[in-house]
Amino acid sequence: MMNLLSHLSYVTITSPDVDASVKFYEEHVGLTVVDRIDGVVYLRCWGDYYRYSVVVAPGDEPSLKTMAWRTSSPEALEEAAKRIEAAGVEGEWFNGNTIGRAYRFVGPWGHSMTLHWDVEHHRAEPQMASIFPDRPEKRSRVAGAPRQLDHVTIAASDVDAFAAWYHEVLGFRIMAKTILDEAPISVFSVLTTNEKSHDLGVVLDGSTRGGRINHYAFWVDTREELLIAADVLMENGYPIEYGPSIHGIGEQTFLYYREPSSLRIELNTGGYRNYVPDWEANTWKPSLGSSNLYRNSAMPMSMTESFPAADGPSATEEGVPDEIKDALLNPYAVQGRG
Ligand SMILES: [Fe+2]
Repeated sequence: MMNLLSHLSYVTITSPDVDASVKFYEEHVGLTVVDRIDGVVYLRCWGDYYRYSVVVAPGDEPSLKTMAWRTSSPEALEEAAKRIEAAGVEGEWFNGNTIGRAYRFVGPWGHSMTLHWDVEHHRAEPQMASIFPDRPEKRSRVAGAPRQLDHVTIAASDVDAFAAWYHEVLGFRIMAKTILDEAPISVFSVLTTNEKSHDLGVVLDGSTRGGRINHYAFWVDTREELLIAADVLMENGYPIEYGPSIHGIGEQTFLYYREPSSLRIELNTGGYRNYVPDWEANTWKPSLGSSNLYRNSAMPMSMTESFPAADGPSATEEGVPDEIKDALLNPYAVQGRG
């Protein structure tokens, strides 16, 4: 298969209070607003190459409205659309803000994905232009501000089937997965379109609600910046949900916190680079440190929340023995696994 996708280009999220979310992104994450169109706000990190990477749209609940990947060529965009429709999913073509003719579809687990080739490269205003030719604009003056968008992690009711579909249809490489210690049930997997461990993650969704997001993530250049960001967030009343620590899978240093809508954001840095075209995904278990490489804590239960909030009993818990239910809900709740 030709290389169809190149990288995650933007995420569109919804917030019940767009102004509060945007203010937070500007003041505490270090993003800047580039467009406001019909109540939708377009933001960027200082190092993003294109015009925007985060779009905040009004909505009743925090959610992922769409996740966008840039294709590797105009031909790849046509080919990707063909492959999606051959897989039985009908999408639609539309003209997006600065992304030209784009293709949008809802995948089998309810997640909207937007594919585009055209982009508008960011051109900084003169006072924001960097002295370094490759930088889209000056480094942010907000402490620990991320350089760029990094990845998105969604929730789906069948982790392996989700990974297989996105691998077979769109060519994502499957890099690793985690199964429970207690039973051979997949609870997490990471997929990538490039050399990173993932630009698309998937956690097991025990609810009956499709299309949910667990978090999305930004990249900072160094661990020091991530630690400074954690410190400054704490000082300003924004608690750290989980971390700073290092994931076993991917080996990135991580930090999770929430934006005002309650949606979870992550900062990432470090980790491996993997260029192996025939990489075969290894299987981890929580007890091996898949989430926390140091194996010296437990993951907070709040980390199991995905967005929007789920309804009713968990479908995947039906028929599962009691001792597995806890592990399904939070495989990393046991001391030494999170
Ligand atoms: Fe993540």
